[in-house]
Amino acid sequence: MHSSHIAQPADLDVVRDSYDRVADAYVELNLGDITTYPWLRTAIDGFAGAVKGLGPVLDVGCGPGDLTAYLAGRGLDVSGVDLSPRMIEHATRRHPGHRFSVASATELQPADSSLGGIAAWWSLFNLPRHILPEVLGSFARALVPGGHLIIGTHMGDGEIHRTEAYGAIPVTWTTYLWQPAELWALLAAAGLGEVAELRLHESVAGIPSLVLVARRPDHGTRVS
Ligand SMILES: C[S@@+](CC[C@H](N)C(=O)[O-])C[C@H]1O[C@@H](n2cnc3c(N)ncnc32)[C@H](O)[C@@H]1O
Repeated sequence: MHSSHIAQPADLDVVRDSYDRVADAYVELNLGDITTYPWLRTAIDGFAGAVKGLGPVLDVGCGPGDLTAYLAGRGLDVSGVDLSPRMIEHATRRHPGHRFSVASATELQPADSSLGGIAAWWSLFNLPRHILPEVLGSFARALVPGGHLIIGTHMGDGEIHRTEAYGAIPVTWTTYLWQPAELWALLAAAGLGEVAELRLHESVAGIPSLVLVARRPDHGTRVS
């Protein structure tokens, strides 16, 4: 375990409650099914191939667990963790036999060099800008040399204050938008190197999408 603690977002409880409220609709709308997004699936398949055999994989912000199960189907030793207990209830029911638990990305403190891969698939965009660098630093330290992090998120400038989501369900959260260069700078500061970038300018959610894949360098390079 790494000893340093990450500051918890001031709105963490409100965000958790919001995802608990939307979880049933998220499942009914089948939004977690990677097989319905061909470009995203291609990126995920590339990630799965890159990390296979490197060690356990953590799906951070796994929601109802569809991606976790998909990655397991690609031969990975994967577990899922999510802020929302209701999302984890769905994940456990929908994907029996897989490992899921409730926690925030900001609380994980995974052991150093313990993971072959980390997927953060549309699950970091609610983190305030000053907290994301610390979370990425914890991810970088948790990866084995050669391990990969894949991030899927909303691309753009500024932020969107959401008051409803997934069919007019009341929520209270901020969606922080990121430009690729901004995120690459944070990943580089965390000690991760660039592997791949995918920009989807037409998104099903109405906001352009961004996928970044970063890699912990092999032995000899220090992770900050
Ligand atoms: C848009 S959903 C994506 C779920 C899943 N990754 C998928 O692709 O279907 C966002 C998920 O991130 C989770 N989340 C939000 N903030 C989080 C945090 N700080 N730590 C862990 N999970 C978080 C939410 O509870 C929710 O399940």
